[in-house]
Amino acid sequence: MQHQSPRPFPPGFLWGASTSAYQVEGAWNTDGKGPSVIDARTELPPGTADFTVASDHYHRFAEDIALFAELGLRAYRFSVAWSRVIPDGDGAVNPAGLAFYHRLIDALLAAGIEPIVTMYHFDLPQALQERGGWSRRATVDAFERYARVLVSEFGDKVRHWLTINEQNVMILFASALGLEPPRSSDPQRELYQQNHHMLVAQARAMRAVHEISPRGKVGPAPNIACVYPASSDPLDVVAAEDFSAIRNWLYLDAAVHGRYNTTAWAYLGERGWRPRIEPGDMEDLAAGRPDLVAFNYYTSHTVGAPRDDEPELGGSADQHLLVGEAGTYRGVSNPHLATNEFGWETDPVGFRTTFRQLYDRYRLPLLVTENGLGGRDVLEADGAVHDSYRIEYLGEHIAQMREALADGVDVLGYCPWSAIDLVSTHQGVAKRYGFIYVDRGEDDLRTLGRHRKDSFAWYQRVIAANGLSHSRDTALVPPHQG
Ligand code: BG6
Repeated sequence: MQHQSPRPFPPGFLWGASTSAYQVEGAWNTDGKGPSVIDARTELPPGTADFTVASDHYHRFAEDIALFAELGLRAYRFSVAWSRVIPDGDGAVNPAGLAFYHRLIDALLAAGIEPIVTMYHFDLPQALQERGGWSRRATVDAFERYARVLVSEFGDKVRHWLTINEQNVMILFASALGLEPPRSSDPQRELYQQNHHMLVAQARAMRAVHEISPRGKVGPAPNIACVYPASSDPLDVVAAEDFSAIRNWLYLDAAVHGRYNTTAWAYLGERGWRPRIEPGDMEDLAAGRPDLVAFNYYTSHTVGAPRDDEPELGGSADQHLLVGEAGTYRGVSNPHLATNEFGWETDPVGFRTTFRQLYDRYRLPLLVTENGLGGRDVLEADGAVHDSYRIEYLGEHIAQMREALADGVDVLGYCPWSAIDLVSTHQGVAKRYGFIYVDRGEDDLRTLGRHRKDSFAWYQRVIAANGLSHSRDTALVPPHQG
């Protein structure tokens, strides 16, 4: 359906941008912070930046927030490093850790920028990991306690809370993130046990927000992407539905409806990967009740039915993120989509489809917490960074988000990845996403100076014009085309 008159973005729409603690803060062992599983990662290829200094946001947040204000951000979505606040995950609270986030949040509020806080973005405290991590029930209690500490401390300043970033990616692509479970005879089964514990922990954290902060709104933040069948062959359609259930709805049905998705539950049973469910768990899930669904979207997926003569692993993502599973679904590339330099397909229309699927299914306001393009940006001698490819990517996605608004979807805000350059999850600083360039290499920290990219001025105009809403307009077009 094509809308003749696009809907304007609503007043108060949260034009924002995102980061996560371990990718931007640095200061990995400063002021009492404990190590996280990220600090213990050993599988990064030699010559790839680690996360010890990252973008040094811990020490430069005031300068960064001044730039965010100049950009016009109305919201900044960031995560709290659990092990900065509770260094060993479930022991003493670190006052210096809390003080840092008070300074950060106060500076945002003073600049008129709404803080949107993710409680946990991949960086489990290493001390908890050494005691079994998410395989252990006690980690559920530790997360609930941590969530209660955060909401009690910051609840009068923070309105929007997100529980767990990309739980589905942690389960589906654990090895790419360095998050594989400790030795186990059946790692997949173990991962789904961990998944269940995270779902219960998340539900308890959502309940905690509602108990402690009457104005607080909370939701999950998975990576959600529409899944296309490779063809109109009914078996391909079933495979696409299976993958969507395994990738998307397993996580959100549990978070929103408090129950396991039927197809995903059948899949887990078929594989022998169903988790142990303790008494009280399903009641906890049912009591979770999110106020919104946040989601990250980079690309769609295309899958077909498994075939003996073709490998099951394939599709749009880089080699660490290929999809497919023998006997269930086969990842394929989508001939209608272009691929970026890191091997990810670009699908703005899939963004609209994903919005529609999410809203039809859950009828909760949607918040985009990540969307963006990794690129090998070049800092010119005059300090400029010409990233027209990023402007094009973001412009096309914003245009599709506007179509979704016209479709009737309730969208709260848009926080692309990333506010400022940071260290990618597994591809170092060479893969940049920010509106603000950070002058550092993989090992060479150089000046760590900040430079506005072309996309900075472009996004500034988009925000100032509230997404420009009256026509299929010029603000979304890269400068060289406008
Ligand atoms: C999401 C994560 O998976 O995608 C971010 O929440 C991540 O942490 C982003 O950085 C982009 O992925 P990558 O691998 O290119 O850094």
